[in-house]
Amino acid sequence: MKFLIFGGNGLVGKELQTIITKHGHSVLATYRNNNADGQIICDILKYDDLKRAFEQAKPDVVINSTNLAGGVDFCENNPELAKAFHCQANKDMANLAKEYGARMVLISTDYVFDGTKPPYSEGDATNPLNVYGKEKLCAENYILETLGDKGLVARTTNVYGWDPHTKTPNFLIGIYPKLKAGESVNAPSFLYGNPTLAEDLAAAIVELCEKEASGIYHVVGPDYIDRFTWAKRYAEVLGFDTGLINEVANPPAVLVPRPFKSHLTIDKLTATVQTKMRGVEEGLQAFKDASLQSV
Ligand SMILES: NC(=O)c1ccc[n+]([C@@H]2O[C@H](COP(=O)([O-])OP(=O)(O)OC[C@H]3O[C@@H](n4cnc5c(N)ncnc54)[C@H](OP(=O)(O)O)[C@@H]3O)[C@@H](O)[C@H]2O)c1
Repeated sequence: MKFLIFGGNGLVGKELQTIITKHGHSVLATYRNNNADGQIICDILKYDDLKRAFEQAKPDVVINSTNLAGGVDFCENNPELAKAFHCQANKDMANLAKEYGARMVLISTDYVFDGTKPPYSEGDATNPLNVYGKEKLCAENYILETLGDKGLVARTTNVYGWDPHTKTPNFLIGIYPKLKAGESVNAPSFLYGNPTLAEDLAAAIVELCEKEASGIYHVVGPDYIDRFTWAKRYAEVLGFDTGLINEVANPPAVLVPRPFKSHLTIDKLTATVQTKMRGVEEGLQAFKDASLQSV
């Protein structure tokens, strides 16, 4: 199969390319700022760039692994840009995927839920609380309607992996330098989720594509844990002082609304793929091994 990956330099984008190549498929990936060998430049906000990427790749499968730096807070403060990035660009991609006869994968989020009635399976009612979640849901709906059995939505959350040079650090990478320097960090115990190893997310998505799966799948790790407990265990596994992790028990007064408890279930995923989604213990060990290999 020929894959086209938008966001080839991101945490998940890099893992996708590794797995796709390992499985004997071909891949063309795009970058916007950070060039890497063999990648082509593409700003997903520009239709002509998207069209050129499709024309060059002539893909069987396209995966959108781009993300808007600044995340949920940035989206809330820049709703027009968030709409263009998370909804309109995905609509453009879906239309091009249809034109080129390609399958399309959107990597979506637990933020389509409000977090009031966990756990959530794929068919549960959505109710996004913020701009980011609303625009991702807009993209989900369009892709599923437009592409039918060639549209795949992979909802994920709390993605982590060893990626020290990233400009958009995941939670564990974000607290790493401070813990290493012996400085304290804050970790909310009111925020729960399923930690998801980027490598497993990528492997499961590729396997779903190979199986020509369509519709919505939750693609997350099996454990459901609060960030304070996760950070403590992280410090233990990496050999940092666990006393440096400060518990934040209550949400700050000013916080963009978000689901606090968005436990995603993976029964549908595990019944479909052989990829094992690693839990917290195995995942942290893999993170540690990768960090040791890179020094
Ligand atoms: N991380 C999580 O916890 C999480 C949770 C739920 C869903 N997701 C989804 O998972 C996917 C992958 O996330 P990630 O953590 O791997 O993201 P990431 O590491 O932040 O990478 C994002 C990539 O997007 C590219 N990009 C940004 N703006 C672009 C634009 N205008 N045009 C083209 N490319 C652009 C960047 O390219 P350059 O580096 O070249 O600028 C970067 O390589 C995203 O769709 C995200 O929404 C992630």
